Amino acid sequence: MATTNSLLLGFLLLHIAIHHSVPVEGHPNYSDALAKSILFFLGQRSGKLPPDQTMTWRSDSGLSDGSTANVDLTGGYYDAGDNVKFSFPMAFTTTMLAWSILEFGGKNRMSGQLSEARAALKWASDYLLKAATQTHGKLYVGVGDPNSDHACWERPEDMDTPRPVFSVSSTNPGSDVAGETAAALAASALVLQSQNRTYALKLLLAAKDVMDFAMQYRGKYSDSVWTACPYYCSYSGYMDELLWGAAWLHKATKNATYLNFINSLGANDITDIFSWDNKFAGARVLLARKTLVDKENSFDPFRFQAEDFLCRILPNSPSKTTQYTPGGLIFKLSSANLQYVTSITFLLNTYAKYMASSGHTFSCQNVLIKSSTIRAFAKKQVDYILGQNPLGISYMIGFGTFYPKMVHHRGSSLPSISSHPAHIGCNDGFQYFFSGNPNPNLLIGAVVGGPDQNDAFSDSRTDYNHLEPATYINAPLVGSLAYLAGRYGSG
Ligand SMILES: *[C@@H]1O[C@H](CO)[C@@H](O)[C@H](O)[C@H]1NC(C)=O
Ligand SMILES: *[C@@H]1O[C@H](CO)[C@@H](O)[C@H](O)[C@H]1NC(C)=O
Ligand SMILES: *[C@@H]1O[C@H](CO)[C@@H](O)[C@H](O)[C@H]1NC(C)=O
Repeated sequence: MATTNSLLLGFLLLHIAIHHSVPVEGHPNYSDALAKSILFFLGQRSGKLPPDQTMTWRSDSGLSDGSTANVDLTGGYYDAGDNVKFSFPMAFTTTMLAWSILEFGGKNRMSGQLSEARAALKWASDYLLKAATQTHGKLYVGVGDPNSDHACWERPEDMDTPRPVFSVSSTNPGSDVAGETAAALAASALVLQSQNRTYALKLLLAAKDVMDFAMQYRGKYSDSVWTACPYYCSYSGYMDELLWGAAWLHKATKNATYLNFINSLGANDITDIFSWDNKFAGARVLLARKTLVDKENSFDPFRFQAEDFLCRILPNSPSKTTQYTPGGLIFKLSSANLQYVTSITFLLNTYAKYMASSGHTFSCQNVLIKSSTIRAFAKKQVDYILGQNPLGISYMIGFGTFYPKMVHHRGSSLPSISSHPAHIGCNDGFQYFFSGNPNPNLLIGAVVGGPDQNDAFSDSRTDYNHLEPATYINAPLVGSLAYLAGRYGSG
């Protein structure tokens, strides 16, 4: 038995030695991770790809998207490992990418990645602008039939499943998807105005129209758009998107109409999550900036709500309602948990920034919370993702030397067009899906769903809960990585 035990111990130590590619002492290379987190968006592109597309295993796809409704809905992003375009999560991705750049895209912060980040944002804002403006009175909210798409394992370039087009209008409203689209367009305008004022004005005009529609015609898009549920159902209702959309419109226009709307909305749900579905916490952090940074005390109620949220998250808070893995990772839900980690961590870094600018502190019951407390905790979440975790694995593809090789992603797991030009049909792709071989194409920078509640993880392509990447996992991480790269640099 002793021999077996020491052999086992030796094996485990070897295992740990090999897998600890990222040193536990010291910082991961945040500049490297930041650049990769933005590169990931190249792998999710739909439409006609430009000549400077550096992720060369991807090619043009979805070139007739919109044609069934006689409109141009080419472009935008596939949400995750499939080939469907869902505006609801795409717009949230866009808002978070824009917010990341607004807060942490200063000259010394983005480590030379600012133009790449803006390009990733514009790829989405171009699409949302088309979706919002092509047909008067309609907002297009999706392209593709998720059931038939998911029944195939096909490269986006080979896609031959139906591409129906979905929209909302005054007779079939969607305050959820419209509120989020308005937020995305307004936030993008704020980022891109320094590059092209004409373009930013177009975005802002569209944002106002879409927000007016969201406010005037109340309803959830899942009542009329059958592809919404269960894929991207707004389970939290649409009050959060009305609050979020109005908060972004107020920030972009300073028009008091949005503030009056916010104050009359009664969007007071208590929350301990932040995601593509539930935006109450994000809206409150954004509105709290007005009191913390701009000293407008009438915004204090939002600060109290934001701090209530933080007290439900922070591990040393007596009122926390958040579960943690033994390794210290925020654990919210078993499906794609890292999305909640990156979204919440973004709010932590952003709120800490607002606090630091005014020397503000607050208390969770009797525990004093400083900006440094929050930042240290937020850093720990990012470091966990980048490999400082019990398994020593990086959950970002291509970062470090030990990361998942079997990402649940059609394009990444199938041979590229250049290595295999012949069409690979719907069912023919499954031999690659079920193969034990690593993905042939590196979806560099993608962050997958991540470990389970016990920090366990196994690299298995069929396990979409843990192996699927998504644009809304990466978008808020861009902001946290930009902050950390600015603070700690590359080593
Ligand atoms: C961090 O990554 C960047 C970009 O890949 C690289 O240029 C730099 O040398 C790295 N820093 C260290 C300390 O390895
Ligand atoms: C600025 O945006 C407008 C409107 O989208 C566009 O027509 C124009 O080509 C853009 N200018 C530059 C320099 O990109
Ligand atoms: C403020 O926004 C509302 C709603 O879109 C609009 O009716 C009003 O004209 C705007 N006010 C100004 C000063 O732009």
